[in-house]
Amino acid sequence: MTGFTRRQFHQSVLSAAAAAALPRVAGAETAPLLRARTGSARLAPAEYPETRIWGYDGTVPGPILRAQQGQRISRVFQNDLPQASSVHWHGIRIDNAMDGVPGMTQAAVEPGATFLYDFVLPDAGTYWYHPHNRTYEQMARGLYGALIVDEATGAPEVDLDEVLLLDDWRLSDDAQIAEGFGNMRDWSHAGRIGNWITVNGDGGWSRAVPRLARMRLRLVNTANARIFTLAARGLEGWVVALDGMPLEAPQPLAELTLAPAQRADIIVDVVAGEGEEAFLVSFERDGGYAIAAFRVTHAARETRMTAPDALPPNPVPALGPLESARRADLLMEGGAMGGMAGAMMGGQMMEMREMVAAGKVWAFNGMADMGDTPLIEANRGETVRIAMTNDTRWQHGMHLHGHHFRQIGRDGALGPLRDTLLMNRGETAEIAFVADNPGDWLLHCHMLEHSAGGMMTWLRVL
Ligand code: C2O
Ligand code: CU
Repeated sequence: MTGFTRRQFHQSVLSAAAAAALPRVAGAETAPLLRARTGSARLAPAEYPETRIWGYDGTVPGPILRAQQGQRISRVFQNDLPQASSVHWHGIRIDNAMDGVPGMTQAAVEPGATFLYDFVLPDAGTYWYHPHNRTYEQMARGLYGALIVDEATGAPEVDLDEVLLLDDWRLSDDAQIAEGFGNMRDWSHAGRIGNWITVNGDGGWSRAVPRLARMRLRLVNTANARIFTLAARGLEGWVVALDGMPLEAPQPLAELTLAPAQRADIIVDVVAGEGEEAFLVSFERDGGYAIAAFRVTHAARETRMTAPDALPPNPVPALGPLESARRADLLMEGGAMGGMAGAMMGGQMMEMREMVAAGKVWAFNGMADMGDTPLIEANRGETVRIAMTNDTRWQHGMHLHGHHFRQIGRDGALGPLRDTLLMNRGETAEIAFVADNPGDWLLHCHMLEHSAGGMMTWLRVL
């Protein structure tokens, strides 16, 4: 696309249990609506037309849903789109029936229909919501929003708390969302990478901040497939949480990588001078671009605040003994240049050529669609380990529903709690978690073209 300046960058049904859920919670009639509908948004600069989008309540991003840890969120989801949809509450350790996976935890919500989502928020932190039906198209059209859970106690002292949803869009010359959602070249390569980056739906996001103000920035990668590599300029601080979960100790902020669906909470002080600008910078192949700007005004205080404490931990159970944990292996194969000859599909062995014709170009453990047996079946409370091997030429952001996990390092050291893990080409990564949330849960690549193309499996917690 030409003409943009400065910021331009160049299912299968698993079980009969998926019966339509009816509103069944007292007070459902009074839950506020969350409407998926068409709308328009000013994504591109003023000289371009507005972009026709699909959005929650017709906006990009959708409304920020916010509540306190331990409280409930209730929304009547109303689907006013021309396609069936659902809402998945990404990263919430949620009641399985509310997880929003069509064909698994509920039936897809047909155009004109509604579904009551009503669930408890066990953890504080930065979460988000998005569809889980034709996700690669519906998210690319703008359906996503933030779900912020405030700490019940011990919230950090900050002057400003900002949610920044990072997205990339594939726009045509007249700033409309390009079609071609099923493009097999995208599906078999890095996914649908856009040519226009926005923060909170704005290609030139900017706000005024006082010098030496302290901000909590909640960064969420809502792109279909783009991996963001970020850094701050004129802002100094710490990473305090990843994927919603507090780090045991704040880490000094340097370069920050966010795979699709990953989040980072950072606490930063504005150290740029009055009259200057501070930036959030995204590194692309051809250099760094400012994707969010902070215009610095008169000082908020005379000296910097002292370093923040760690956020209060969330009640995630500690891992049991790893030696006796239940184990599974996950071999990730396929994609362009991957050399995969074929895989099982619908119970039959298919050659790669036939798979491409069917829109499946990836496989987990030799299967290109979700089977009717889970990758692993765990008893409630059991510690589970999954050793994942990325035998492809592409990076993948592996996401587990309903639980947060830790990566087991080579030396046995445990990584931070996460719900999405970026895996590089050829990399092996082992994760462990306590399977304490009963139900059927997806494990899939969050590069949406990859999951639609076969990188999806599931686990059962009894
Ligand atoms: Cu963010 Cu299966 O989803
Ligand atoms: Cu992937």
